[in-house]
Amino acid sequence: MFVTFEGCEGVGKSTQLAMLKEYLKNSGQEAVYLREPGSTEISEKIRGIILDPANTDMTAETEALLYAAARAQLVRQVIRPALDAGKTVICDRYIDSSVAYQGYARGLGEDFVKKINSYAMENAMPDVTIFIDLRPSASFRSVSRNDRLEREALSFHDKVYEGFVAQTATSNGRIVSIKPEKEKIFTHNKIIAALREKGAIR
Ligand code: TMP
Repeated sequence: MFVTFEGCEGVGKSTQLAMLKEYLKNSGQEAVYLREPGSTEISEKIRGIILDPANTDMTAETEALLYAAARAQLVRQVIRPALDAGKTVICDRYIDSSVAYQGYARGLGEDFVKKINSYAMENAMPDVTIFIDLRPSASFRSVSRNDRLEREALSFHDKVYEGFVAQTATSNGRIVSIKPEKEKIFTHNKIIAALREKGAIR
């Protein structure tokens, strides 16, 4: 099973991924944990170029192609071999982030982004995607402004959010929207229940 996590900045995605990892470890379930862009030596180098705040001249097309390039490497080097070996793969962000950030927020359009990513991903589509559904206005103040994408205005992140919501509606149930609770343990419980229902974990 291939599971991905998506959402806007500062919604608690990393915390929830850490809690899921702990839960799976404690219940004796193995998984391969990845993040995008990154998780191979080459993809981490590409991540450095994409997120470097000094790269103010980067065009939207370059950005989209770099995310796709980092993905092409990760799919072939890690994701495809792991799935072929029957392992569970859990990835922090993937294709839906490209559609939301580059397709919607940068304005490149869903078709362009999906087209370049069909080369990048081959057919490694997630089986289940957990979308942590929180509007950026609710979390924006807590986000650090360290990297190039985090430095974008709230209006940019609002478009990202709209992109995730639109994709959830047309995903035929692949993307599960999880509204975060005040207590993170309750959000965690909702995620576990959703992944169990999809047969992704025990
Ligand atoms: P992270 O901070 O969650 O690790 O993600 C890095 C940043 O890259 C985050 O701002 C979201 C963005 N991103 C895209 O714009 N397109 C993509 O395809 C991916 C995977 C991430």
